[in-house]
Amino acid sequence: MLEDDDPTRRQFMNRVGLGACAIAAVGAGVVTLDFLKPKVLFEPPTKFKAGNPSDYTEGTVRFNKEQRAFVIGTAGGVFALSAVCTHLGCITRYVSDEGLIACPCHGSKFDLEGNVTHGPAPRALPWLDVQVDDKGELVVDTAITIPHGKVFRA
Ligand code: FES
Repeated sequence: MLEDDDPTRRQFMNRVGLGACAIAAVGAGVVTLDFLKPKVLFEPPTKFKAGNPSDYTEGTVRFNKEQRAFVIGTAGGVFALSAVCTHLGCITRYVSDEGLIACPCHGSKFDLEGNVTHGPAPRALPWLDVQVDDKGELVVDTAITIPHGKVFRA
């Protein structure tokens, strides 16, 4: 005779099956709840303020590390360049001693208008849209490229 505390093989298997079902139900619930959460990617803003046009006297080159862009002053106005190398996407640097922009990865060089002076970069650095806001401050939009040579005049 079996005692009440001593489960039969069938009772034992029933308990194991119920336990497995409970674990599966909790897992399915977690997966379902995760599926219901919105999957949204928040991207950083593409616009940044770059100061007043009067801050950019001829020859001024400012680098915005966060937005990976140069803002450059010329005699004719202000323009902005992407600092992302057109070869494989490294971030270029302004070399003030030589008056050029250089890529640290594979040695490409660009003049201050973004034109390639030394490869392997296949294309010039893109020019970026520059506008002025209602307070008279320059606003650069890294998402909008413009034709080379289109200098912003305040
Ligand atoms: S990524 Fe700039 S030269 Fe290769």
